[in-house]
Amino acid sequence: MRILFVGGTGNISAACTRRALSEGFEVFNLNRGNRPDRTAPGVVTLTADIRNPETVKTALAGLRFDGVVQFLAYRPEHVRADLELFEGIAGQYVLISTCSAYRKPSLSPVITEDTPLENPFWEYSRLKIACEAVLREEGTARSFPFTIVRPSHTYDDGWIPGVFGSSDYTIPWRMRGGKAVVVPGDGQSLWTLTHASDFAVGLVGLLGNPAALSEAFHITSDERLTWDAIHAILAEALGVRAETVHIPSDYIARIRPERGAGLLGDKAVSVLFDNSKIRSFVPEFRPEVTFAEGVRRSLEWYDARPDLKVPNPVVDAEIDEILGYWRKALALLPKVDGKP
Ligand SMILES: NC(=O)c1ccc[n+]([C@@H]2O[C@H](COP(=O)([O-])OP(=O)(O)OC[C@H]3O[C@@H](n4cnc5c(N)ncnc54)[C@H](OP(=O)(O)O)[C@@H]3O)[C@@H](O)[C@H]2O)c1
Repeated sequence: MRILFVGGTGNISAACTRRALSEGFEVFNLNRGNRPDRTAPGVVTLTADIRNPETVKTALAGLRFDGVVQFLAYRPEHVRADLELFEGIAGQYVLISTCSAYRKPSLSPVITEDTPLENPFWEYSRLKIACEAVLREEGTARSFPFTIVRPSHTYDDGWIPGVFGSSDYTIPWRMRGGKAVVVPGDGQSLWTLTHASDFAVGLVGLLGNPAALSEAFHITSDERLTWDAIHAILAEALGVRAETVHIPSDYIARIRPERGAGLLGDKAVSVLFDNSKIRSFVPEFRPEVTFAEGVRRSLEWYDARPDLKVPNPVVDAEIDEILGYWRKALALLPKVDGKP
């Protein structure tokens, strides 16, 4: 089997590349060549910019693939461009969508692939829903063979998944420095964090399976944690006592609308993903990396790169701003036992 990952060195796609190689597939990555450090040995890299179709056509010249996995389609026009690029040369095209596409506010926390797609809060999710619609309507009309895969919050070594960004060291840095961190709501909504190595088993298991054509799947861990627990596990892994401050997501949205969109439209909503469908198609999919283990690996990754153990100044200032407004609001309340 010959597989092309568009991306291939990213947070999720690198693990998928490794998994496909370990399954004995011939693996190609298409990217701009910025991450040689994350390029797996044995991969053929096609250097092109997916937003510049001419460079992609040149890189793909004469090649055909059993599977093409598109990690970089965020807008309907990206999928339309892919229909032109990959029609006739892909035995299966896999669109990486998102679980944030599932209906919000949710009517039930239990999410199956039949849960309707609708997200009035977050434009990112609406655009992914539109990407899926293009594939279903225009792809089906053209007999384009496709599968839709929806990851939820997914991280590899080096990401510390959180509510305020996942790809930098801001939250551990604040925790270690005794600075408060913000936890949405009352910290009790349930969230799922999936390690990319587990996701990769499900994704790669769908490649080359004709029964997966025209189907959608989510692929997530079965571990459900409250946001309080996620922060407690991170603090324990760091060996610190963290100060967490509960702030309603609606309040955060008033201060930072874009952050609020990602909370009200995704991370602050309790979800229980039912993974029966992916299990029935890919029996070897048995997620095994707990968050405690995954975050331990990520912290180890940072320990080996001390120069990266710094906060993102934008995210750090954002958290300070939200905490500042919250503390001002609390100061207006009557004191309890003399305390603010
Ligand atoms: N992580 C999550 O929690 C989550 C949840 C739901 C859905 N998703 C979906 O997962 C996908 C992201 O996957 P990922 O995390 O593996 O990717 P990523 O880390 O965002 O992507 C980086 C990869 O794409 C390549 N790349 C970036 N821009 C490119 C361009 N213009 N042309 C060619 N290559 C380009 C990069 O290499 P170069 O820089 O060398 O080009 C690298 O290989 C998205 O579709 C996202 O919506 C993620």
